Amino acid sequence: MTQATLFRRWAPLAPRVPHLIYGGDYNPEQWDEAVWLEDAHLMREVGVNLVSLGVFAWSSLEPRPGAYDFIWLDRVMDVLHAHEVKVNLSTATASPPPWLARLHPDSLPVTADGVILHPGARQQYSPSSSAYREAAVQLATRLAERYGAHPALAMWHVNNEYGCHVRECFSDASAASFRRWLEARYGTLDALNNAWGTSFWSQRYGEWEEIYPPRRAPTAVNPSQQLDWRRFCSDVLLECFELERAVLKRITPDVPVTTNFMGFFKPLDLWRWAEREDLVSNDAYPEPADPGAPVDGAMGADLMRSLGRGRPWILMEQTPTAVVSRPVNTPRRPGEMRLMSLQSVARGADGVMFFQWRASQVGAEKFHGAMLPHGGTRTRTWREISELGGDLARLEPVRGAGVPAETAMLLDWESWWALELEARPSREVQLLDQLRASYEVLWERNVPVDFVAPHADLSAYKLLLAPNLYLVQGGMAEWLETFVAAGGTLLMSFFSGVVDTREQVFAGGPPGPLRRLLGLRVEEFVPLVQGQENRLEPENGLSFSCDLWADVLELESAEAIARFGNDFFAGRAAATRHSFGLGAAYYLATRPDAGGLRWLLERALNEAGVRPTLKTPRGVEVVRREGDGHSFLFVMNHAPQPVEIIVPPRARDLLGGDLEANCLRLPPKGVAVLEVEQTR
Ligand code: GLA
Repeated sequence: MTQATLFRRWAPLAPRVPHLIYGGDYNPEQWDEAVWLEDAHLMREVGVNLVSLGVFAWSSLEPRPGAYDFIWLDRVMDVLHAHEVKVNLSTATASPPPWLARLHPDSLPVTADGVILHPGARQQYSPSSSAYREAAVQLATRLAERYGAHPALAMWHVNNEYGCHVRECFSDASAASFRRWLEARYGTLDALNNAWGTSFWSQRYGEWEEIYPPRRAPTAVNPSQQLDWRRFCSDVLLECFELERAVLKRITPDVPVTTNFMGFFKPLDLWRWAEREDLVSNDAYPEPADPGAPVDGAMGADLMRSLGRGRPWILMEQTPTAVVSRPVNTPRRPGEMRLMSLQSVARGADGVMFFQWRASQVGAEKFHGAMLPHGGTRTRTWREISELGGDLARLEPVRGAGVPAETAMLLDWESWWALELEARPSREVQLLDQLRASYEVLWERNVPVDFVAPHADLSAYKLLLAPNLYLVQGGMAEWLETFVAAGGTLLMSFFSGVVDTREQVFAGGPPGPLRRLLGLRVEEFVPLVQGQENRLEPENGLSFSCDLWADVLELESAEAIARFGNDFFAGRAAATRHSFGLGAAYYLATRPDAGGLRWLLERALNEAGVRPTLKTPRGVEVVRREGDGHSFLFVMNHAPQPVEIIVPPRARDLLGGDLEANCLRLPPKGVAVLEVEQTR
């Protein structure tokens, strides 16, 4: 583990906001100037230092094609600047004005069934439409030229939540760009026919024009074609981002660029996206009524930090109270918004923002929570927003600190896409379920986790989890072997090592190129229907239930550490361990219940020598941030009752909580941020 990486304090996310960032989406185009002044004044009052401006303002900025109106935006920028509020200026390209569809009906997106998605809501554009792309680039250029030198400009917010409503477009324009993409990937039709295995079901292509996106077809479309379609859909949106980013970088090379992600969003290969951003930002809307929300929140936050390769990130959007997109939109209860905001900060966020600043009186989101609700400043929401502003000011010493982790989880979008295509042995094997189940066990133990991309540098990690690594890219088996041979511990789970990047099954069957590392062969798969269960029985007399799946294994050099209890494969290995070089590779052939997963993860954590940040009562989350010799322990109580925790000696709570000697008392939803002595 390299100390330089661990203890370095990162630079501010935006040089013009050298503070923890606090703010929200600001939509002044919905209000008149008197309200702008009141807004700026109230922003100052609660410590807002950055707003995302213009996210859905395209039709106000370009009311007629090519006729721009920047006068109102000039004024808003000046008002904000006068009140020392900086701007995360959007390129406003997420929702084209209605005139684009009138002039270019082929810019509208089309579903797999051929249904055209019309104006009247938002995001009605095909990423392959040249009319959309040209208009978007024009608008981004005008904005960069006009505001590049404005003193309020702190960063660029490109588009908004790419793929949020339209993840894929099957229009003729998309078909043409898919063909171009395939030609660039394969060069020749022969290569494509071989990769896609088109001799199956008489699919052999003789001309590029014969190839379509996987539109609605009589039955299952060629899986290799579908996998390439997933790759293409991520790439074509990324191309739209790149077009705007190139303009911004040409005109304002020093202004940071981001676009807001949506957590574990399957349609976009976020590793490739994050590489193209100066900083990562995320939108998170956990369901307040879901008791698992703290685990989901933590997991999403860890992904964002990991996407930025450890760099701080911004929680760009969340709601102070409720959303409006669910059938029933129950609000976050008092203290929950603060708790979840500080959870993001604990896990590396250097900014906390909201959708939106002022609640709209019009439109489809008028019942969505806002920092300044319809009821104004005499509301619980406003009080909580003011308090959070104060908390963030007190947490300034934390800014730039990193989050050290010794455990990593592999997340490969290509394998995720392929795993969940149709025509699999079981459609119920879903990657996020497996990731989350293991993550939850680590979360309960306060074991910090980084997510890693294929071929990432693993030298900082002792333990690597790789659930359902269905697709194995070239060189990946060697990459994993190098990690284990050097002393790492790997834990892989069922239905792994099945296909290559073309979606073709490895000769000899699973685990394909992972066979040497795992020391076993999978003889057959036994997916279990709902209600079917088996037993996972470790050698020590314990017994856990398991379901969903069983790999029937033939062990070569691996040893069984648990066996199946029932069915025709009773007595065959259900979990294995294989010594490899200085390390060990574990394989889990089924989905155990929570107890079984805890048993196996405990064993892997012990073998790897991974220690928890702090041992705490159930429901208490602890995360450490470190930077330049400073160490901060975030302690968060998600439990419904008060807790007492013994913390390291000589700690100081930056939030001024109830800390006596080394005994910390936290009420339900309470948070302490302890500055502690560096322990390493
Ligand atoms: C997304 C969008 C926002 C808003 C919120 C509502 O995050 O980016 O514009 O629609 O959802 O939750």
